[in-house]
Amino acid sequence: MPQRRVPIARPIFGEEELEALRRVLESGVVAHGPEVEEFEREFAEYVGVEHAVAVANGTAALDLVLKAYRLGPGDEVITTPFTFIATANAVLFQGARPVFADVDPRTYNLDPERVAELVTPRTRAIIAVHLFGQPADMRALREIAEDHRLILIEDAAQAHGAEFMGRRVGGLGDAAIFSFYATKNMTTGEGGMVTTNDRAVAERVRLLRDHGQAGKYLHVELGYNLRMTSLQAAIGRVQLRKLDSFNEARRRNARRLTEALSGVKGITPPYEDPRAKHVYHQYVVRVEDEFPLSRDDLRSFLQSRGVETAVHYPMPIFAQPLYRRLGYPQDSCPNAVEASRRVLSLPVHPALSGEDLDYIVECIREAAASGRGGA
Ligand SMILES: Cc1ncc(COP(=O)(O)O)c(C=O)c1O
Repeated sequence: MPQRRVPIARPIFGEEELEALRRVLESGVVAHGPEVEEFEREFAEYVGVEHAVAVANGTAALDLVLKAYRLGPGDEVITTPFTFIATANAVLFQGARPVFADVDPRTYNLDPERVAELVTPRTRAIIAVHLFGQPADMRALREIAEDHRLILIEDAAQAHGAEFMGRRVGGLGDAAIFSFYATKNMTTGEGGMVTTNDRAVAERVRLLRDHGQAGKYLHVELGYNLRMTSLQAAIGRVQLRKLDSFNEARRRNARRLTEALSGVKGITPPYEDPRAKHVYHQYVVRVEDEFPLSRDDLRSFLQSRGVETAVHYPMPIFAQPLYRRLGYPQDSCPNAVEASRRVLSLPVHPALSGEDLDYIVECIREAAASGRGGA
């Protein structure tokens, strides 16, 4: 089998993005401008919400949305420990406390029963992450939020276009955030968006992203410069038009991998919640004890064959040095700990060819055979 090089992620840009960039450059308006407002309108329409506010990145979107809700010291926010660090750090930045609920061992998303157990009089919000492109159980989380009058925020950084019970993520809670980082299902290089049906929240995020400016040089709040540029927005508008076809390609690639890997003992393909439309930001298998190589040895083997993989995430957030120093317990979320030891992300992005996908599977089969001492 000839060696190939298969990257874990690759953005796809074409003539349309180049054309959009040229148009913006020629207009002379390269910072915030009408292009950003168009992108916001189109993104809000796509998600099915009234307001979308574009910002510099997904981390800024999280920070500003929590600020818009005035979270602060003394408040607790229940979230998942099995996500990118930004989700929990945004809570710390407010002076509030992230409280970690364990995840469902199949979807790796928040387990609503664990969330319900952790609600206290100090709890103000829940942040649900739609991890790897699969929506969290928003019905159950919504019920908990309503019962306890909590703010429900979706971190949809990895789930543009994903659906839960027939509705797109981004409009399933009180507010949501998206990231347009380079590896995401659609990208603007760096970029982010807040979506909400709450006008007051949208307006406050708009203020805070722009030095608290209510009018020209009229500053009514302590704000930042976390605006999106017109260049980013121009790329984003084109990528948004391509998003559904990108997602379909991801789902097709995932189906092909799952069909081929189902027969490989010790490799568990990703589980799909039947209520969800998974958009496969990542295709994450579990490497079980029955597989002849450990997760990390399989990873090295694939690397030696030119197949790039990743571990999302090698430890739960509470095990990170920063959180250990804050005194977080290490034994409260066994499913997250177990997942962090077993998960391996394989390439699934839309730039993969059929040959790439077959090659990934062949390499895994080879690893399975070599580990058993076979050919
Ligand atoms: C779940 C999650 N939340 C938040 C972020 C932060 O987004 P950004 O990298 O655009 O700041 C990311 C991005 O990687 C993410 O995966």
